[in-house]
Amino acid sequence: ASTLKDAASPLYFGAALGVGHLTNASDPTFAKLAKQQFSAATPENEMKWGVVNPEAGVYEFADADTIVAFTKKNNMKLRCHNLVWHSQLSPYVTALPLNKVKAAMLQHIKDVVEHFAGDCYAWDVINEPFNDDGTYRDDVFYQAMGEDYFEIALKQVRAYDSHAKLYINDYNIEGGNAKSDAMLALAKKLYKKGLLDGIGFESHFILNELPGDIAENMERFTKVGLDIAVTELDIRYNLPETATTDSQQATQYASVVNACQSVKRCVGITVWGITDLYSWIPQTFTGQGAALLWDDDYKKKPAYKAVINAF
Ligand code: XIL
Repeated sequence: ASTLKDAASPLYFGAALGVGHLTNASDPTFAKLAKQQFSAATPENEMKWGVVNPEAGVYEFADADTIVAFTKKNNMKLRCHNLVWHSQLSPYVTALPLNKVKAAMLQHIKDVVEHFAGDCYAWDVINEPFNDDGTYRDDVFYQAMGEDYFEIALKQVRAYDSHAKLYINDYNIEGGNAKSDAMLALAKKLYKKGLLDGIGFESHFILNELPGDIAENMERFTKVGLDIAVTELDIRYNLPETATTDSQQATQYASVVNACQSVKRCVGITVWGITDLYSWIPQTFTGQGAALLWDDDYKKKPAYKAVINAF
């Protein structure tokens, strides 16, 4: 195969897309690669609560709509991201008295899910709900509703979009550990109630520190009846990029592809960006980078070919 999407088919291969890059006339390469190489997309920020619903009753869908239109035009699956998350949340929500948070969450979900209804292959309904020790993150939703917020949110999404697959998405659940154990226990309960379809393994990995049991861990989720998706893959490390890091990274990208391929209900892989130039890593993890498949100059890195060959 000569593209990621052809290599991955019948699985999808997606990328996170930022609207600023997608529509930047002075960088046509970004949009060109997005449509040539990928069969799925996730808006990198454009559907987040703080972006689409900055104030109570105020909705700004234009940037998300641009990405949705791009995916339709180019026959790409759309992973909608996300509805309930402690981060990039509007200040009006955190300022609410706790007894008003449930109503605000229900309203937000109704308005956003209705707007995109029919367009989303999947919704990341709840994002990053666990601490690394497997306890629930003590965010405003948990404080207001306790464990019930999962069910309340998922039911509301189903009510306004009967087609989207409903996911919970998190990081550090790619291998067996306290956090993935807790996610599995929650997922079983929600699956039995018919409210959950899949689990997203973000997969923001560190070079040479990938869990060795990704496939086995995926299996225990799919055994329940759930789909699994790799939703935000990147493999970062302390710069500089060298021939050694390039080749280690290539092997490790291939191992993630192999894990997904070996698990029947692993439906696809999404990388968290196209080029290292725009990756979220350097701004978030000081000194780190080079985590994606294309370098700062849009040169394909060894990991690109390794991914194609691994399928
Ligand atoms: C990141 C984006 O890539 C950045 O542009 C933004 O500044 C912060 O969020 N987990 C998630 C994603 O679920 O939404 C995050 O995306 C990365 C971590």
